[in-house]
Amino acid sequence: MGKAVELKNITKRFPGIVANDRINLEIQKGEIHAIVGENGAGKSTLMKVLAGLYQPDEGEIFIFGKKEKISSPNKAIELKIGMVHQHFMLVDRFTVLENIILGAEKKKGFTIDEKTCRETLKKLLELYNFKLDLDARLEDISVGHAQRVEIMKVLYRGADILVLDEPTAVLAPQEVDELFINLRRLKEEGKTIIFISHKLDEVLSIADNITVLRRGKAVGTVPADSVTKEELARMMVGKPVLMKLNKTPAEKGEVKLSLRDVMMKGHGGRNVLNGVTLKVCGGEIYGIVGVEGNGQKELAEAIIGLQQDYDGDIKVCGKPTKGLSIKQIRDMGVAFIPEDRHRQGLVLPMKVWENSILGLHRKEEFKKKTSIDIKKAEEFTSRNVKGFSIIISSIHQAIEGLSGGNQQKVILSRELSQEPIVILAAQPTRGLDIGAMEFVHQQLLEKRREGKAVVLISADLEEVLSISDRVGVIFDGEIVAEFTPEETTLEDIGVYMLGAHKKAGESA
Ligand SMILES: Nc1ncnc2c1ncn2[C@@H]1O[C@H](COP(=O)(O)OP(=O)(O)OP(=O)(O)O)[C@@H](O)[C@H]1O
Ligand SMILES: [Mg+2]
Repeated sequence: MGKAVELKNITKRFPGIVANDRINLEIQKGEIHAIVGENGAGKSTLMKVLAGLYQPDEGEIFIFGKKEKISSPNKAIELKIGMVHQHFMLVDRFTVLENIILGAEKKKGFTIDEKTCRETLKKLLELYNFKLDLDARLEDISVGHAQRVEIMKVLYRGADILVLDEPTAVLAPQEVDELFINLRRLKEEGKTIIFISHKLDEVLSIADNITVLRRGKAVGTVPADSVTKEELARMMVGKPVLMKLNKTPAEKGEVKLSLRDVMMKGHGGRNVLNGVTLKVCGGEIYGIVGVEGNGQKELAEAIIGLQQDYDGDIKVCGKPTKGLSIKQIRDMGVAFIPEDRHRQGLVLPMKVWENSILGLHRKEEFKKKTSIDIKKAEEFTSRNVKGFSIIISSIHQAIEGLSGGNQQKVILSRELSQEPIVILAAQPTRGLDIGAMEFVHQQLLEKRREGKAVVLISADLEEVLSISDRVGVIFDGEIVAEFTPEETTLEDIGVYMLGAHKKAGESA
């Protein structure tokens, strides 16, 4: 077998923080190795060092037993290391085939030899038993398939070591199963897989070995079959973790948010929302589950006023919101935790404190004559940083330097610190570690207890079932089924999420 990767004393510093602190890590050839740890523990940084995106300040890297300097991503590919990032880097207008070969085209003279590319790819797909339509346009395929495209991209470039940074965060349960089948198949063919995830059940089911990082240090590597979820959580956090929610019975109040027959057209004239009708009361959490791309994003954007081009009614506390600006809708008491935090929730080059008051900066509490009371804003930010345990070196650092989970916490603390009437939370715990996730769940339950109406849009079924009072399944722009968590199972909901109920109906 032998070692595929050996990291010796890897240290990577950023201003004010040691992201990786003398990390030692061994990864055997042909294993699936998981890396877990709290938000900001240094997982992505370590993998970016391996993929040639960052240069370590100290330490040595051995690939297949040979000492190497991975000076660039191209060098990493040369060494057969390929990284699949959490944010896909694909081109929507291109086909699957074009996306895979982009930048690594086989040439015939000066023209691209598509035939040879296609044949090579077909062989690869067959070898790994991957199902992909090479001629489909990227914009028409599911997230699960887009991820397969990303994986094929690195395989096509000859990768033997695959690094996947939180690959399951965006997938529906059935898609996770399919990904795992694919990963096991890759392993059988001798590939080495490194896998970052916050979902400990998944990690325990797929990995051979698990390495835990805590605050930049490697605290240990354990075989997956020798630990429990609780033990792993304790290694990550450094103390026992209570994995239990304190959910009191709902005390439903009046309707705070209502939607009636909301229809919206997407590009190409297809309906992205197909007549959504729902009512959410104060004191309840309404969960919306679905595979990405079934209208969740558009639904949230219509409620918050980012998208005005819809038919039907949306009302907050009985008042129509159509034609109002985002600011006016916010002022009615709607808080919004957006799904795409890079595009909608944050301004990446801006400082942490500036991001913390984004959208709130015109509020009385932050006003000082005609500008912002910086001192108040800083105090507010510091309180949030403390309350949400956000790991930063300074509230004056640019937010783009925070780990994914910590960026998410800045948005959460900002939105939940206000006194909203309706909270629209889209994927609020995506990318959060178990401690932070539990904290967010407690916060949402607390808002529910205070009588707020909470809409929770999530791809994480377990999350939705554990904190919602009612669950609606969205498929193809429609709420196709509604359940209470007590009367349903993960499998039942999964069937509706994938539209299998429709297909079954058609063939009958
Ligand atoms: N480009 C950067 N500039 C400054 N600081 C950075 C940069 N990248 C990472 N950091 C810091 O390094 C630490 C580790 O970040 P990293 O992204 O590796 O964490 P992570 O374990 O992947 O967390 P998460 O689970 O939230 O994704 C964090 O404190 C982060 O703020
Ligand atoms: Mg990360």
